[in-house]
Amino acid sequence: MRAIQFTRYGQPTVLETVDLPRSEAGPGEALVRVAGTTFNQVDATIRAGHLAEAFPVDLPHVPGIDVSGTVVAVGEGAPAGLVGQDVVAFLPMTGPGASAEFAIVPAELIAPAPQSIPLADAAALASSGLTAWQAIVEQADVRAGQRVLVNGAGGGVGGFAVQLAASAGATVIATASARSREAVEATGASQIIDYTTTALTDAVTEPVDVVLNLVRTSPAETEALVSLLKPGGTFVTTTTPGVVPPGADIRTVSLFVRSDAAQLARLAQLVDASNLRIDVSARHPLEELATVHRLGEAGELRGKVVLTPTRDGAHV
Ligand SMILES: NC(=O)c1ccc[n+]([C@@H]2O[C@H](COP(=O)([O-])OP(=O)(O)OC[C@H]3O[C@@H](n4cnc5c(N)ncnc54)[C@H](OP(=O)(O)O)[C@@H]3O)[C@@H](O)[C@H]2O)c1
Repeated sequence: MRAIQFTRYGQPTVLETVDLPRSEAGPGEALVRVAGTTFNQVDATIRAGHLAEAFPVDLPHVPGIDVSGTVVAVGEGAPAGLVGQDVVAFLPMTGPGASAEFAIVPAELIAPAPQSIPLADAAALASSGLTAWQAIVEQADVRAGQRVLVNGAGGGVGGFAVQLAASAGATVIATASARSREAVEATGASQIIDYTTTALTDAVTEPVDVVLNLVRTSPAETEALVSLLKPGGTFVTTTTPGVVPPGADIRTVSLFVRSDAAQLARLAQLVDASNLRIDVSARHPLEELATVHRLGEAGELRGKVVLTPTRDGAHV
């Protein structure tokens, strides 16, 4: 099978297209014919070797933590009924990934793919959708009437987070630069702050109940975000940890997303009910993964970028 792998840590150029023996599903696993995978910042960080201690991968490593596709075989103990199903999953960070024609997926991580969108695009729901769900629903428990600030709404997680908070009935304030403004508006944000021109502390005039920070922030920027919270408010971050001034009644959560098939199935249902949209900003053949990593590291990507394996030289 055709796959993209790296045999040493380094720049995006370490990613190479190779032919590998097709994997076989072991006990409790499914073999999935990959329709799509995506780029996440963590893929670049793992490839560069910066997370070798936190997420040790065996080299050579096939990257790609999101997968959508069709189950073609299952190993011992995995439900036989999965064969032929279109599925989506957030793969273990340290195992072989989905940048290949076929991927091995632990059966317990598999959720049915949404049926109302192209199967390749469904990959974009996995780790980003789960991060947004775990931030907005599980950790912040956003309620109707609350005010929620999503910092970094133009990215893969932010688009889902704004929608989940807005559909809970919250008023959502979102940061986005010009390139993402329209897309973030479409997700239901009530106020959009262009972070390239406007200070958040100038634009947010009333305190908020929840801040979701999706951007790496300096100590001063983190302090400014925390200062926007009401007493009793919640600061959830996927990046820089929150720091609470002594005596302030603020809860901080540093989120580390986990794979959760039930939550992913719920997200897929929301997509099929037209209550959650996936902001796919670009689609590439899998062979362009190195280019996508380079663009991602340079901050030139927004929304979700989907990569699709080519078969017999065709982009399918
Ligand atoms: N801890 C975890 O479990 C976990 C899980 C998922 C993600 N993460 C991390 O969370 C972060 C967000 O993830 P993601 O997948 O959404 O990232 P992403 O798709 O790479 O985010 C890119 C977006 O960030 C926005 N952005 C960049 N600088 C900004 C700034 N100074 N202020 C506001 N927005 C800014 C840009 O918005 P514009 O287009 O508007 O310019 C861009 O579209 C990443 O650092 C990722 O590694 C952590």
